[in-house]
Amino acid sequence: MIVSINKTKLVLIQDDITKQETTAIVNAANSSLLGGGGVDGAIHRAGGPKILKECKEIRKQQGSCPTGEAVITTGGNLKAKYVIHTVGPIWYGGNKNEDNLLHNCYLNSLKLAKERRIKSISFPSISTGAYHFPIERASKIALKTVIDFLQDNEPVPLEGKSLTGFEEVRFVLFSKEDYEIYLKNLQEIIDWTE
Ligand code: APR
Repeated sequence: MIVSINKTKLVLIQDDITKQETTAIVNAANSSLLGGGGVDGAIHRAGGPKILKECKEIRKQQGSCPTGEAVITTGGNLKAKYVIHTVGPIWYGGNKNEDNLLHNCYLNSLKLAKERRIKSISFPSISTGAYHFPIERASKIALKTVIDFLQDNEPVPLEGKSLTGFEEVRFVLFSKEDYEIYLKNLQEIIDWTE
């Protein structure tokens, strides 16, 4: 599914995020930045040791990565040039600021990408695996955060040229079920805003 939001292509696909050729892909990391399972494990396996090496350098400078924050490293052997590592909230039932922290993961990843003049980025479904964030709820937060950001996306001046921000933002869902949930919720948001 592809929709256009303020000149940016918003794409939903069912695929493996490590295969994406967008300039950046986003990792559903943990605060240690030292790797793990799921998306984290897949990205480190496919991207190779350079990613972990840069994660360790970041840890030396700033310590661990707080939930909702994002850091950037090389993409190593991936097609993507960069990996943006963000730490999603663990689901504790919804009364521990989980919604806002998940919102921050997407927002801070987009802000970091924009600062680096990255024009295409792929997101996984953050926190909806090992962190047990209910995917119906998470997908609405993810889509709304990204769509709001793209709708408010002011052109960024770059040496006199106005940079229109992102060309493409992708949600890369691992399962058909996840894809269908994101698709349903995207359609609801789009109908509502029309
Ligand atoms: N490509 C795209 N999506 C994937 C991939 C992949 N290769 N592998 C898994 N997923 C999906 C899962 O199906 C889930 O929908 O990514 C979503 C997020 O799942 P997790 O990777 O478990 O991430 P999260 O729920 O945020 O938990 C993060 O798990 O791997 C550890 O180190 C990580 O501690 C951290 C925690």
